[in-house]
Amino acid sequence: RRNYLIGLLPGDGIGRDVVPEACKAVEAAADRFDFSVSWKKFPYGAEHYLKTGEVLPDEALEEMGKCHALLQGAIGDPRVSPGILERGILLKTRFYFDQYVNLRPTLSFPGVPSPLKGGDCVDIAVVRENTEDLYIGLGAASSDGVRMEIGMKRPSYELRGFLNLSVDPVMDMAAQIALATKLGVSRITRYACALARQRGEKEIVLATKSNAVKELYGFWEGIAQEVVSEEGLYLKLINVDALCYQLVKDPSRFGVILCPNLFGDIVSDLLAGIAGGLGLCASANIGDGLSMFEPVHGSAPEIAGTGRANPLAAILSASLMLEHLGEQQASGAVKGAVYMYLRDSSSCELPIELGGSKTTSQVGDAVRSMIEEM
Ligand code: NAD
Ligand code: IPM
Ligand code: MN
Repeated sequence: RRNYLIGLLPGDGIGRDVVPEACKAVEAAADRFDFSVSWKKFPYGAEHYLKTGEVLPDEALEEMGKCHALLQGAIGDPRVSPGILERGILLKTRFYFDQYVNLRPTLSFPGVPSPLKGGDCVDIAVVRENTEDLYIGLGAASSDGVRMEIGMKRPSYELRGFLNLSVDPVMDMAAQIALATKLGVSRITRYACALARQRGEKEIVLATKSNAVKELYGFWEGIAQEVVSEEGLYLKLINVDALCYQLVKDPSRFGVILCPNLFGDIVSDLLAGIAGGLGLCASANIGDGLSMFEPVHGSAPEIAGTGRANPLAAILSASLMLEHLGEQQASGAVKGAVYMYLRDSSSCELPIELGGSKTTSQVGDAVRSMIEEM
């Protein structure tokens, strides 16, 4: 019998509400498709940090590395200065395991209206580069008083050595370095090509901003064009501002959208709004080693613990995890159960986020029953 060790990091806020619902779905699918799952829970997040001062120790990363995959909730808490936990836990994990793909599919579901005209038949995959751009953590602010130097270590190389930004403390300023490498751009572009081919599509849209940020995104366009040509596909360049406009005008004509890290973050939340809610949007952080699965949304502290969080994004992230583990049938059953639950529910049986009255655990229970009965 196949057994998987899954690392669980519920994290903060509604992360703790939605992760147990994703576990219910995985366990129901495991029972149906004859495999088993062992959970290894990691306590990191705001509570742990406020109690112990510890963010995410290296030993924890080593422990995570022994798991088959990681299922995460969300990180971030209003009691902790922004960035400490998000960078120290979430981004650290993405970088440590070199999870260079951030796959963020946006799907319209039946029974979930889009606020946009024509927004009800969206099937878009944002392929977000996940280890470069403005996210590498090399920056300095004069308010820190002293020269600051932070580097992100990647398996392929260490940046700390050759980028050393110093800021004069008497000048009021801040600077942040964005990185693009041939390795980074070509591997994410190849992933986007493979995905387009799998979807039966020939075109990839690349969102950049080379008219203003010429060096960085001009480089991106050049490398991406080379790779896409090699792969025999067609690359369509669009500035990210124009892309946002086009997505609101007519999202149905887009398929695979390739984005540098920061633009991908922003565009995926825009798409979540178009599809009807952040509570429906799943994501996969994929690398050659350990991969991590989490909703696109954050910890939504204002609704944490109230039952108002929609767990479907976490449940769909678990479906992506099962697919990654090679459990295609189980993955399809979880996704299909979400689809059927949304399709067959009257409007009051929908999650609170979608205008219904069902709480977080009631939605999780409904999806679990669907998986059991399918
Ligand atoms: P957010 O995604 O937490 O919330 C944005 C809005 O969407 C809020 O109105 C929230 O109530 C709503 N929302 C989000 N998910 C929902 C769900 N499943 N069901 C119902 N409503 C939902 O973004 P934010 O408010 O900018 O950030 C809150 C905290 O989360 C911050 O600390 C931020 O840094 C962190 N964050 C973490 C992640 C992550 O861990 N992957 C992602 C984004 C933000
Ligand atoms: C996301 C989040 C993170 C990001 C933050 C919390 C660092 O917004 O996963 O979308 O910017 O990647
Ligand atoms: Mn985001």
